[in-house]
Amino acid sequence: MSLKRMEPAMTSHSLPTDPLEDPAAFAARHPRLRHAPATSRNREPIREALADLLPERPCTVLEIASGSGEHALWMARHLPQVTWTPSEATAEGVAAIGEWLAHCPDLADRVRPPVLIDAARPPWQGEPADAVFVANLTHIAPWSATLGLIAGAASRLARGGILLIYGPFNESGSFTGPGNAAFDASLRKQDPDWGLRDREAIDAAAMARGLSVEARRVMPADNRLLVYRCGAS
Ligand SMILES: C[S@@+](CC[C@H](N)C(=O)[O-])C[C@H]1O[C@@H](n2cnc3c(N)ncnc32)[C@H](O)[C@@H]1O
Repeated sequence: MSLKRMEPAMTSHSLPTDPLEDPAAFAARHPRLRHAPATSRNREPIREALADLLPERPCTVLEIASGSGEHALWMARHLPQVTWTPSEATAEGVAAIGEWLAHCPDLADRVRPPVLIDAARPPWQGEPADAVFVANLTHIAPWSATLGLIAGAASRLARGGILLIYGPFNESGSFTGPGNAAFDASLRKQDPDWGLRDREAIDAAAMARGLSVEARRVMPADNRLLVYRCGAS
């Protein structure tokens, strides 16, 4: 008997059944799923920051530009007080999030069906949220989307609620790392209206909508989590 024949067979029983354990492998077996590899790297640092920033009581988070929806699932799984509503700008994007959600029935009561929201078209209809979260939108959309995001969040946040904006930003007129300079150049080549935003410009836009600026978090890979609060808690 050859060594090869003695190896254990790879059966479906040996594959992880939890979609969130290895999303890349799971998506490879389910071609209708979109997988965003960066979410597997940044989901845990983001979750840690959110655990610190969100209320410990039951609370609601509205996510803008959810992409694949993988952040929504991870946060809901590991932040048990949270009810999370993902969103995307197109019906196709909303449907793609629904595909992932269908594989996580344990989260059906705390991840609401994804909704259609164009960040650039505030105000957004719906219930007040304790937090509005967005990752990696501001540099991959025109500046009008960031302004819309802030206006929309101001229209949906409950008093004392927070707007959380994750991604790469410039600070004091400079890139925060060499990787960001190359990233910015590649974005602007794809679309001249894209590119890394100045954190101070986002702060100013938030203040103009009545939000107060709170201490931002330095995140891995030269990212930041910007924090803005709506009124007093
Ligand atoms: C780089 S992806 C980030 C997706 C996800 N947040 C993540 O971190 O993996 C940018 C997302 O922004 C969405 N998007 C672009 N313009 C938008 C807009 N005006 N309103 C809402 N979403 C938008 C795109 O559809 C895309 O899913």
